[in-house]
Amino acid sequence: MQVALEGRTALVTGSTQGIGAAIAEGLAAAGARVAVNGRDARRTEEAVERLRGQVPDAQLLAAPGDLATDEGSAQVLDRLPDVDILVNNLGIFGSRPALEIEDEEWRRYFEVNVLTAVRLIRAYLPGMIGRGWGRVVNIASDSAVVIPAEMIHYGMTKTALLAVTRGFAKEAAGSGVTVNSVIAGPTHTAGVEEFVYELVDKDLPWEEAQRVFMRQYRPQSLLQRLIEPEEIANMVVYLSSPLASATTGGALRVDGGYVDSILP
Ligand SMILES: NC(=O)c1ccc[n+]([C@@H]2O[C@H](COP(=O)([O-])OP(=O)(O)OC[C@H]3O[C@@H](n4cnc5c(N)ncnc54)[C@H](OP(=O)(O)O)[C@@H]3O)[C@@H](O)[C@H]2O)c1
Repeated sequence: MQVALEGRTALVTGSTQGIGAAIAEGLAAAGARVAVNGRDARRTEEAVERLRGQVPDAQLLAAPGDLATDEGSAQVLDRLPDVDILVNNLGIFGSRPALEIEDEEWRRYFEVNVLTAVRLIRAYLPGMIGRGWGRVVNIASDSAVVIPAEMIHYGMTKTALLAVTRGFAKEAAGSGVTVNSVIAGPTHTAGVEEFVYELVDKDLPWEEAQRVFMRQYRPQSLLQRLIEPEEIANMVVYLSSPLASATTGGALRVDGGYVDSILP
């Protein structure tokens, strides 16, 4: 199968590092013109430069802006009034005892992880429908389905994203635009690597450290290792392509078998 995204413009939110950066790289390698986003202009520009090194012929642009604010969203929408592919990747996470999460924190998680996605879908979906082609991919998490006791505020936002996905897919019914979410499992990002070494012997080489971590702390994983960001990106690139034209309103798993269910 050949994924050809020449002539398509994509915005990947939160793509200065981690899973977002891998998705931006995958889309750029498939020929899309890709807008990289993060809160800080300099960090975003640096991410674009890094990406240029990884995909020499890439068509890239920096679209900095804090999407959790009206001002930052306006900045991104001014720079990029239309896109063909919207990947709502940005997300914050952190653990907190359930009874200590105050209203303010619940609101912050909802605003950053859910409302940023909804706002961009509202801005870009009408154009996609009007042109008869478009792709929206929302990055959810295994925590949407297996709510972690130590971060129910995070889990709640990811469950909400699954609902948002299904709802907007209905809004786009019959238009040639698809809306899907990806349920990402435990993934090897810089933050997660740090977290692993907080829990296992710091002298272990990475391959062994992650296996010990998975055995002890994520025994439900059938993969028994962390997922590499590129493995999430591969699914997103496929969903963003014309090849995935019959897949919409779905939640697709790249979770290493972490969620113990047959469906979805
Ligand atoms: N890592 C995992 O194991 C895992 C598992 C399942 C799901 N996920 C989901 O995958 C997505 C990416 O996770 P990750 O681990 O790759 O995250 P990460 O390494 O923490 O990166 C987050 C990205 O979001 C950007 N960002 C944060 N707040 C922003 C805002 N308000 N406006 C614009 N950009 C913002 C950051 O850029 P700047 O700092 O430059 O602003 C950064 O590029 C998240 O939705 C997460 O919930 C992750």
